[in-house]
Amino acid sequence: MNQQQLVERARQVKENAYSPYSNFRVGAALLMKDGTVINGVNVENVSFGATNCAERTAIYTAIAQGYKKGDFEAVAVSGDTVDFLPPCSICRQVLVEFGDPDFKVLMTNGEAEIKEVTLDELVPFAFTELEM
Ligand code: THU
Repeated sequence: MNQQQLVERARQVKENAYSPYSNFRVGAALLMKDGTVINGVNVENVSFGATNCAERTAIYTAIAQGYKKGDFEAVAVSGDTVDFLPPCSICRQVLVEFGDPDFKVLMTNGEAEIKEVTLDELVPFAFTELEM
C-alpha cells in the first residue's frame, strides 16, 4: 500500500466518525508491517473527556487484534482542515509507546496533500522508559 492509498483510506473511514459535539470528523488508517490496514475514527462522548481520537482508536484496535510493539509501519490522519492535521499530544504519547522512531506519520489536509514525518521528528525528547 502506497502513501496515497493509505491517505485515501483515512479519508474514507473519516465518514464513520462519531463526532456530534465538535462536528469535526477524523479518520486514521494505520498500516502494519504485515500490510494490514486498521481503521480508526474519533469517538466522542457527552462527557467530553471520554472522547477517543481516531489515532488511538486505530492503535488500540491493533493491540486488541494481537499486534505488538514494533509491528507498526505508518499512520495516515485525515480531517477537513486547511493545515496539515497533526496527532494531538495524547496520541503522540500513545504512538511513542508502540511505534519505532522511524514510524511514519502522514499528516493530510482537506485537499489530501501529504506531509510525512517520522515519529522521532514529531515527538523529539519523547518520554519513554527511563534508565534509572
Ligand atoms: N481529534 C482526533 O481524532 N485526532 C487528532 O489528532 C486531533 C483531535 C478529535 C478529537 C475530537 O473528537 C475532535 O477531534 C475535536 O478535537
